[in-house]
Amino acid sequence: MKWLNDAVFYEIYPQSFLDTNGDGIGDIPGIIARLDYISGTGFNAIWLNPWFESPFRDAEYDISDFYSVAKRYGTNEDARRLFAEAHKRGIHVILDLVICHTAPEHPWFTASCRLERNERSDLFIWSPMLSYRGDRTEPDDYYISGWSPKGSYKASFFAVQPAVNYGFGKVRHPWEMPYSHPQCRKNRALMLEVMRFWLRMGCDGFRVDMAGSVVKRDPEQKYTQKFWRETRKEIEAEFPEAVLVSEWFNPARSIPAGFHVDFYGSSSFRNDNWMTHENKGKIPFTDHYAGGLGKWIQDLEKTRAAIGKKGFPGLFSGNHDVWRMRHYSSLQAMAVNMALLLTLPGCPFIYYGDEIGMKYLPGVSAEGSDSRGGSRTPMQWNRTGNLGFSTADPQKLYLPVDSSDDAPTVEEALAGKNPLYTAIKQLLALRKAHKALQAQGEFRIEHGRAGRFPLAYERSCGKERLWVVLNPTDRPAECVCKHDLKPLLVGGECRIHNGKALLAPASYGIYLLEGSSPKNKIRKE
Ligand code: NOJ
Ligand code: CA
Repeated sequence: MKWLNDAVFYEIYPQSFLDTNGDGIGDIPGIIARLDYISGTGFNAIWLNPWFESPFRDAEYDISDFYSVAKRYGTNEDARRLFAEAHKRGIHVILDLVICHTAPEHPWFTASCRLERNERSDLFIWSPMLSYRGDRTEPDDYYISGWSPKGSYKASFFAVQPAVNYGFGKVRHPWEMPYSHPQCRKNRALMLEVMRFWLRMGCDGFRVDMAGSVVKRDPEQKYTQKFWRETRKEIEAEFPEAVLVSEWFNPARSIPAGFHVDFYGSSSFRNDNWMTHENKGKIPFTDHYAGGLGKWIQDLEKTRAAIGKKGFPGLFSGNHDVWRMRHYSSLQAMAVNMALLLTLPGCPFIYYGDEIGMKYLPGVSAEGSDSRGGSRTPMQWNRTGNLGFSTADPQKLYLPVDSSDDAPTVEEALAGKNPLYTAIKQLLALRKAHKALQAQGEFRIEHGRAGRFPLAYERSCGKERLWVVLNPTDRPAECVCKHDLKPLLVGGECRIHNGKALLAPASYGIYLLEGSSPKNKIRKE
């Protein structure tokens, strides 16, 4: 997909971005009002977390109407306007497609609960046993009782998310349908209609929630892959520019299955278990990181080899499910992490607020977020009340704003007072100007494979060759390098001297290999 090559996504959590009507919750007019900020920073794509009608027990990943924007954000007309305004600025917008489950309040599910047969009876997975809890010998196989006299339903992620029935790879119980069952195909067709509806309205694709879990008991995900290959084919025939991004975390499987992008987050990247955050020690992007990035990069190489040119790994600074990067890293170290994300081959995603180094706020939660709430707090715009997010009484805010004196704000960042933001803006401009740095550019690791620092790699496209060197640690690092390097962008202290790159802690350099592309203009901000 052509537009993905230079796409850099900005992930927006709608309820926390900007509140324009003083009810304490972010809204669509708020997102529209900040499109200039987004494109001015250098982003040209947006991923919006779900904005559909919902009882909000898992902050909108429990949908009760796939066809309507939740009233608290505005109307479908606002959605249409957002797509149009974004497109005017060259920004693509993808929505979140929560395909694996609905909320129990969804009329499809309430119909499915009824004893008498109706067209939704088999849209969900029902065991006829009234108090069936699931087969404990199988992972994630749990059923919820007490909602219907008809039996117990299979839950998808949380209990309040009944799983939509796309069939089973291996059928074991009498109530389970095989993947090829006509009913399961009908159920898939229902969701395809949802996709068409929003694509027709102007959205540019989807980030698909739990994409790897559509078909149940499918250990090799053979049928899940089949599901997506068919879906991609049908969607592409009608909407050739639409992009599918999967939350699968296995590009080697998801890209051959038809996704254009899949999040790359091997267990050594951020957190083995993002819901419990038990693996702090393994996160490479901390000030005191002592190993692991080399492995992460090697795995990235393997992943790229497996997916070829068919798609890209999605590299993310954070998201609404993990603790913010700032929790583990200083602003200075974050700039190095961002330099890495924005110069690696793949499709970068920056979580709102990460560009200014917003903090993770411990102990706050809303709408089933648990500890994830600390990463979903309101965007910090300026020093007015509620840091410019809303005019509502602070008690009424969706989640509290950061009340610390050094809470970063956009206003200060735009005034040049936030080195992280300045670095990101420069990096985005550089990426835009050099095809070698974009998703499709070639990638060759030169130093750091075995976990030694600095990490150095070459990116190239045609005749243009760029050399990137990074030291994310809190110790100085050096490596040999070529002589004919022309600096394009340096963060922290990075010097080239006598055929060596010398890097202070938390620093990076991006260079043009001279002679590689005489026509290429060198950009400096
Ligand atoms: C992944 C989403 O990112 C997360 O926020 C949600 O709770 C689960 N999927 C369930 O939909
Ligand atoms: Ca509002």
